[in-house]
Amino acid sequence: MTIQILASESLGVRSMATLVRTNDVSILIDPGAALGPKRYGLPPDKLEWERLRLLKAKIKEKIKEADIIVITHYHYDHYDPEWAELFKGKRLFLKDPEKNINRNQAKRAKELIKRLLSASCFYEVAEGKELCFGTTKVIFSGPLNHGPDERFGAVVAVHVKSPTLNFLHSSDVSGPVQEEALSFFYKTSPEILFIDGPATYLGPRFGLEECKIARQNLVSLVRDLKPSCLIMDHHLLRDLSWKKWAEDIYEAGESIGTKVLCGAEFINKPLLLLEAERKHRYKTLKHKILEFESS
Ligand SMILES: [Fe+2]
Repeated sequence: MTIQILASESLGVRSMATLVRTNDVSILIDPGAALGPKRYGLPPDKLEWERLRLLKAKIKEKIKEADIIVITHYHYDHYDPEWAELFKGKRLFLKDPEKNINRNQAKRAKELIKRLLSASCFYEVAEGKELCFGTTKVIFSGPLNHGPDERFGAVVAVHVKSPTLNFLHSSDVSGPVQEEALSFFYKTSPEILFIDGPATYLGPRFGLEECKIARQNLVSLVRDLKPSCLIMDHHLLRDLSWKKWAEDIYEAGESIGTKVLCGAEFINKPLLLLEAERKHRYKTLKHKILEFESS
């Protein structure tokens, strides 16, 4: 099995787009990417828009290679409604568009389905399904909360199991903080786990207690399941202090031989935390303009 992380916060955009290939099947999970519209009260700059263009073009290319497409929920950093017709001829699995969903995502799901049907693309509801492709198994979780409570709807996690590797992609559980998410992780016991991590950058708006619970849960997961690799990215990598926040997780990983990485490190690329560094870039630019004007 090969796991290619195509885009994520550590690569410069909001995303968890991942292409998983086994001898039997290619699965593209969450074909989309976006930018944080306002961070530190500032809009994305040219550098971020350029990065988005580049990574979205890469994801679009990879759609051609995939047999299966999965959309884990209806946030635009996980899919692009304009790409609906590109899914023609693929098996498309969507997070249930009607159940365990909030109003905003239900509306987006309806719009996506309208586009899919007008392009003669068909879809299946992902939740709870188990599929076999030769020696590869693909198992979808039930609905898992997008965050500490039900307010933001639910997402589905994707478990891919081949004779050589056992991988779990868990988008936007924001932690994990919820019992159901945690129990799915324990049940699947992945060797490689790709998870979003909590939105520590939101501080009390996410929940300080929830951040602590998430960290404790990640430490327990590493200690109990002993995965070969834990990849944390997405929400957590919007925070420049993510490594400091994760010290206990690194410590747990070191003591039992689990590699704790972000997406960029997993694919041996340099970290590019463009959203988290946005304020710094604006400051430097402002400084340069002032210098120029006074010279
Ligand atoms: Fe997301």
